[in-house]
Amino acid sequence: MADAAENLVPIEQLFNPNSDEYMADPIPQCLALMQRGRLVWYEPWQAWIMTRMPDIMACWKEEPLSSDFYDWEFAPPRPPEDQWTNFERALIGHSLLADHDHHRLVRRVTAPAFSRNVVDSIQRKIEPDVKRLFDELGTPDSFDYIDKIAAHIPFISITRMVGIPEKYWPDIKQVIMTFTETWNPTISDERREKARQDSNRAIDILKLVIAERREAPVQDDFLSTLLRIERENPGFEEGDIITLILALIGAGADTTLVAQQWSVYCLLKHRDQVAKALASPEAFSNAFSEISRWGTASKMGFARYAPRDMEILGHQVRKGQMVLMMPHLKDHDPEYYDHPEVFDVEREFNPDVLFGYGPRFCIGAALAKRQLYLTISELFRRFPNLELAGEPERDGSDHNAVVFKRLMLNTNCQ
Ligand code: HEM
Repeated sequence: MADAAENLVPIEQLFNPNSDEYMADPIPQCLALMQRGRLVWYEPWQAWIMTRMPDIMACWKEEPLSSDFYDWEFAPPRPPEDQWTNFERALIGHSLLADHDHHRLVRRVTAPAFSRNVVDSIQRKIEPDVKRLFDELGTPDSFDYIDKIAAHIPFISITRMVGIPEKYWPDIKQVIMTFTETWNPTISDERREKARQDSNRAIDILKLVIAERREAPVQDDFLSTLLRIERENPGFEEGDIITLILALIGAGADTTLVAQQWSVYCLLKHRDQVAKALASPEAFSNAFSEISRWGTASKMGFARYAPRDMEILGHQVRKGQMVLMMPHLKDHDPEYYDHPEVFDVEREFNPDVLFGYGPRFCIGAALAKRQLYLTISELFRRFPNLELAGEPERDGSDHNAVVFKRLMLNTNCQ
């Protein structure tokens, strides 16, 4: 293997998601990385990259690797329990990210909080907020979709979903949106530490909200549902509720913002498909998978950590090393998709793995698709003649995805 490796182009020349070339067109780099092998050592991140779908599916399903950030070789040392801050209590003690058995318990007992009925009722709560955003926008000749609409949606929908009262919004908004950065291995220690301190402050606020809700439960409210689940299920505790809320906010915020931008961009690039995409929530659900495939905005992937020295796909992986699963590498592979360059909102996805697979399948998938459908339908209803005001400039500074600096739209109202 060493001989073969010596003759290969250095990996960072082949694949660099922080490069201008990747930002302009990630497809050649994704395909080249996939060609390099099933498990590729990526020196700049000190991580293995798992490139092929059958391997990724097996890893998702069977979970041979750990999802616990503290199992990563470069994570800060796991602090002793008597020194845990709120953050460690949430992340280590009760985490969705940690121990597989506890994770399954949390997923099982909280499933009712993510049922179709709950998503319907959350949609009803979010709808007036979305309409208000558009009312405030009015009918300008042109506007930046990210600034005026998209940037507000993740926070609105998650706080509405959880039931965080509006009086807490200004305080919590400043500290909660960076939660996922606390375990992002590709950013600086300083940035991770700042995110961690913010999360501690956010948890203090959540504890206040929970204490209030214990005093005065509300019907048909996600937090009250979780408090009921806590009463009925030994082993599911307040720490789990806090972790879950943080995970929802963390996992739901960046992803939604990216999804909003790319949905509008892709549909405006293919105006002929807008009606088909927005024909129903189900049609949009499929269209969104195509938007995500065609756009290929991901820069990273899903991190796991080797729980011990082990052999994976013919390579010796050391305990603590990171393995990044990158399902998006396949998105423009002609062996995986017919005519991958064609954008077709009716393309069949079987299986559809946009939201993951197996025990850690995205909790928020239904909500994510519904809130997108709601917002984008409202956008095209208010502005039927909408068009891109030129090709938007891409922004490489996001830690996880290629996004746009601004997304200027012409409304053509007059
Ligand atoms: C377009 C938007 C979204 C996409 C593409 C997406 C995708 C994913 C994927 C692929 C996973 C699996 C990650 C892994 O295996 O490591 C995941 C997990 C998760 N997602 Fe999403 N997600 C989206 C939006 C949301 C939203 C809006 C929420 C919350 C309301 C959410 C909450 C979660 C949570 C809590 C997990 C962890 C589940 C677990 O570990 O059991 N996601 N998501």
